[in-house]
Amino acid sequence: MSDSIAVLAAPVIAIDGPSGSGKGTLCQKLARHLGWHLLDSGALYRLVGMAADKHGCAFDDEAAIAILAANLDVEFVAGEAGEPTLVLLEGEDVSGDLRTEATGMLASKVAVLPAVRSALLGRQRDFAKAPGLVADGRDMGTVVFTTAPVKIFLTASAEERAERRYNQLKSSGDDVNLATLLGEIRARDKRDSERELAPLKPADDAVHIDSSGLGIEEVFNRVLTEVNARLVSL
Ligand code: C5P
Repeated sequence: MSDSIAVLAAPVIAIDGPSGSGKGTLCQKLARHLGWHLLDSGALYRLVGMAADKHGCAFDDEAAIAILAANLDVEFVAGEAGEPTLVLLEGEDVSGDLRTEATGMLASKVAVLPAVRSALLGRQRDFAKAPGLVADGRDMGTVVFTTAPVKIFLTASAEERAERRYNQLKSSGDDVNLATLLGEIRARDKRDSERELAPLKPADDAVHIDSSGLGIEEVFNRVLTEVNARLVSL
């Protein structure tokens, strides 16, 4: 896979970190505030995982899953005012299952396959369009957008991340168990950090922020200060 330095068509803010660190909410808020595009790279890996599962691929069949990744038939349909975006995979509405822990685990299984990462690389880089891009993932700063002028590595303790996820699922009426969630989060962190290719790790030039005990507004303001300082000096 090429991790060569890509010339960016627009400025990119690369935000990486483990699941539940608050990246998703932060990236959405930042993209809205700046009026920039948003790349949710995790959603692409989740969709490939779902497609592999749907087509009955073995999770070690790298060639077959890479073909699915390269030809992923996905559509994001913006909802009416206040309604969430619909995600259609091969024409089927998968919005409900996209964010579950089970789908996260499928994503992390296909994400270890080099040919799959390679197949998604160009697709992710195409999101960098004027006026700019906020990119959410695990390897945005280390592989996909190595020349991004702003790189943030957002973490939080596994316990706090499990608790946030628990409250989120509980409020949407799901029957969840905190200890099970903590176990799942730890297993996914381990798989993501220990894989050989594009492991979850901060870029050398990333700013680290630990969001444990911080509210979204505090994290947002810290990141915005970084963004303003770095983009002004471009
Ligand atoms: O961010 P999210 O929880 O949606 O990501 C799901 C999984 O997709 C991660 O656990 C990781 O295995 C994989 N992923 C990745 N590289 C990215 C984004 C996500 O490997 N840039």
